[in-house]
Amino acid sequence: MRCVGLAKVPIVDEETCIGCALCTTICPATFEMQADAKSHVKNPAGDPEAKIQEAIDACPVKAIAWKQ
Ligand code: F3S
Repeated sequence: MRCVGLAKVPIVDEETCIGCALCTTICPATFEMQADAKSHVKNPAGDPEAKIQEAIDACPVKAIAWKQ
C-alpha cells in the first residue's frame, strides 16, 4: 500500500549496502546508519526527490532504489 501524497519511496537493500554512508551525508533526513553499519530509510520524504536521486546515483554499490 502506498502512503498518500508520497509519489516515490526510496528503499535500501541492506544486503548490498557496504555502509559507506554517502546516502546519509547527502540525505541526512531520509537515511540513517543503523548499529550494524547499514543504511536504512528513516523518512522516505525527508529530503527532496532530486536529493534522494543524487544519493541513489552516488551509492557505490547501487543499494538504493525507488520502490516499484
Ligand atoms: Fe550503503 Fe550505499 Fe548508503 S553503501 S550507506 S546505501 S550510499
